[in-house]
Amino acid sequence: MGFLRNAWYMAGWADEIGESGLARRIIGQPLFLYRLEDGSVTALLDRCPHRFAPLSRGTRNGDQVVCGYHGLGFASDGRCVHNPFADRIPARSSVRSFTVHERDGIAWLWAGDRHEADVALIPDFGFIPDTPHSRTVRGYTLMQANYEYGTDNLLDLSHIEFVHKGTFAGQGVIFAGEHSVQVEGATLHSNWWMPAIAPPSVAQGAFPPDAKVDHWLDMRWNAPASMRLNVGVAPLGAGREAGFVVPQAHILTPADRHTTHYFWSSTRFSDLDNVEVDAMLLAMFGEAFDIEDKPMIEAAYANVRDNLEAGGDFWKEKPLSLGIDQGGARARRMLESMIAAERAAA
Ligand code: FES
Ligand SMILES: [Fe+2]
Repeated sequence: MGFLRNAWYMAGWADEIGESGLARRIIGQPLFLYRLEDGSVTALLDRCPHRFAPLSRGTRNGDQVVCGYHGLGFASDGRCVHNPFADRIPARSSVRSFTVHERDGIAWLWAGDRHEADVALIPDFGFIPDTPHSRTVRGYTLMQANYEYGTDNLLDLSHIEFVHKGTFAGQGVIFAGEHSVQVEGATLHSNWWMPAIAPPSVAQGAFPPDAKVDHWLDMRWNAPASMRLNVGVAPLGAGREAGFVVPQAHILTPADRHTTHYFWSSTRFSDLDNVEVDAMLLAMFGEAFDIEDKPMIEAAYANVRDNLEAGGDFWKEKPLSLGIDQGGARARRMLESMIAAERAAA
């Protein structure tokens, strides 16, 4: 299965892209993102049409990129505008350009036709930018696995009990919970509700250790693989409004079929200026995602990769269904039908 084209992909955190730019592979294409003099961001295919040098190895002349190999110059829309060897600009010398839109501290790349880009389709991650009342820690890791296997992992949080023994595991609380999956339009929700349990690790210090609380894990998914997790805790029976929520981003962008950029964040509403809390959270999430999730997802993916290369797909592997995995399965089906619809329209 190919990639969805008419969709917003997280290309990076907005502050990763300075004037010197950022080279990153996205849906199998090398891209060069850089900031223009007016502060906006553009993305060009990072491949000069002459002898294919990465434009990211070139230099900048205002908003133009000058190829570092033989000096062709390209405008921010990808048109070749300078040829050091003649006055004439050669035919077919443009490079493809992409629309990039910054929102919520994220640079979103529209992978389809520029004219189809609709910023109203960017999922809401408004909790990420710091405010006087909130502070967010962020991270990134590169996974050697197809992005949909990362989505499976995030839409089936039952793995917390097994994979995250060193970090988030909650002494079996997930088994005390109810799991539900709902689809609203193009958005899928995969939610856990765990009433009357001991306070989970995220609530440590907020409740006496012998207290009982209600706990929820609400995951929202939008294609291709942009997820928000709300981790909530409230006093027993008091209702969600009486509790607190830790919003997190879990956004996956395919570098190619077998490699995935994983961007994550977590926001807190107390202890804002305490840099030790930042360090503690970064260490914990680093352990959870890099040391716990990633090796498991990569090893599982390695077990099917050869078959996929030989023309198979996920369903041909006949994955068992345990019920808890229906969020991931439905997200896969939604993505398949979006890609099929896009192909049919083309
Ligand atoms: S490779 Fe870019 S000008 Fe030759
Ligand atoms: Fe995990």
